Amino acid sequence: MDFLAAYDAVPETDAPRRIGLLRRATATDRAGLFRELRAARPVFPTPLGVFVTRHPDVLEVLSAPETFTAGVFGPVLEEVLGAPFILARDGADVHWRERGYGQLVLAPEDAPRVRALTASLADAALDAAVAGAAERGSATFDLIQDYACLAAARVAVEYLGFTGIPEETLHTDSRLMQWAFAANQGRDPDVHAAGTAAGKEMHDLVAALIARRRAESGRPDGTDGTGRTDGPDDVLGRMLRTRLPDEFGFDDERINANLVGYLTGYQQNATQCAATALKELALRPEVLAEAERAAADPDPARFDAYVWEALRFHPFVPATPRLCVREHVLAAGTPRQTRIPAGTPVVAWMYSAMFDEDVIEAPAEFRTGRPPSHNLVLGYGAHECVGKYAASVIVPELVRRVLLRPGVRPPAGAEQAMDYAGTPYPQHYAVAAGPDSGER
Ligand code: HEM
Repeated sequence: MDFLAAYDAVPETDAPRRIGLLRRATATDRAGLFRELRAARPVFPTPLGVFVTRHPDVLEVLSAPETFTAGVFGPVLEEVLGAPFILARDGADVHWRERGYGQLVLAPEDAPRVRALTASLADAALDAAVAGAAERGSATFDLIQDYACLAAARVAVEYLGFTGIPEETLHTDSRLMQWAFAANQGRDPDVHAAGTAAGKEMHDLVAALIARRRAESGRPDGTDGTGRTDGPDDVLGRMLRTRLPDEFGFDDERINANLVGYLTGYQQNATQCAATALKELALRPEVLAEAERAAADPDPARFDAYVWEALRFHPFVPATPRLCVREHVLAAGTPRQTRIPAGTPVVAWMYSAMFDEDVIEAPAEFRTGRPPSHNLVLGYGAHECVGKYAASVIVPELVRRVLLRPGVRPPAGAEQAMDYAGTPYPQHYAVAAGPDSGER
């Protein structure tokens, strides 16, 4: 592929055609495009912003929030949520303070119980999906609609604390919100309106839930004489029990914005990661066989590495935009040193960084055991995923439960057959319903 020759042949003044070429290349031959850019134009000014493609440069952008802010999508995200949120802000108050708060309530020590919870909810969803296929007389079921999004939403109910909110609403609203703030570069007003309406619906449902929880709770030990306790031991329960100094102004509306923000950061990501990781494993039969063996290991750590390496090839967030708010010399002292003026949008291509030949050994090979800094699936730096401890068990466990079922696999030859149904996210992925279903 010679992307740059075709791109350079389009006059600089014809931005729409250049954007069309970029969009087509990122959709149809992402690996080839970024191989070429890393070699020839590693810091590449485009009408969509400056594409940053090399591993050290992506890390440089993502670790300098005072220079490269979330200002490209931040305002849209806050319109969707109807409130400030850490992923939309940089600096002391909302971002760093509430990031610390996020780490407190999304505690690393929850990981073992979140894994066990995911395993049992995933198994139940798989049982129902397989039984549903049998009832329909079908050899397949839809891994995304019949399994991953349901299991992920049930984890959101049980672990994050969205008690009583229908899983369909959790999944649909979070998809509309994500789409509006993260995948609506063309600023389609209908997509934006649907995202803000979904954000408002979720806010109102969570406000009612918080009011209910407050009304139901008594002293933690029930010594107020009512016999009531402080309610479920989930993330929302932990938020409602956490008291920050009054001067922080952290009221129930802030709890609401954070909880809905967590859902937005989690639900689509977990669902899609489960599907794309399975696809990347299924595309490599020898790797799939190794992963199946690792799935049966009582210590899941060996298996998890297969999932994170699979996601390197198809991350849910391949790139994240930032706004350069003060002039900056990127990659200073290297041949690719580039001055970036204030006001320039910059796109940190984490996908490309994870294939940087100068940093990642044999990047095209599927290898577990790579250094953690070579995997940017959960982001990096100031906005690195604050839910990463939960994510790091939920996503692999959703995949592991599938691989523990013989025959529940994408049919041979249809590993890539994900249907996006006109949305930015895969919506349907047919998998064989068991060993007698004519699968691989
Ligand atoms: C399930 C798989 C997940 C994936 C693939 C994922 C991915 C990411 C990525 C790539 C970022 C960085 C975004 C950027 O720099 O622009 C991020 C940030 C974030 N994620 Fe996750 N995430 C996942 C799960 C979760 C979970 C379980 C939660 C919370 C329950 C969560 C909440 C957040 C939040 C709040 C941020 C923003 C952090 C900040 O701005 O400081 N994510 N996530």
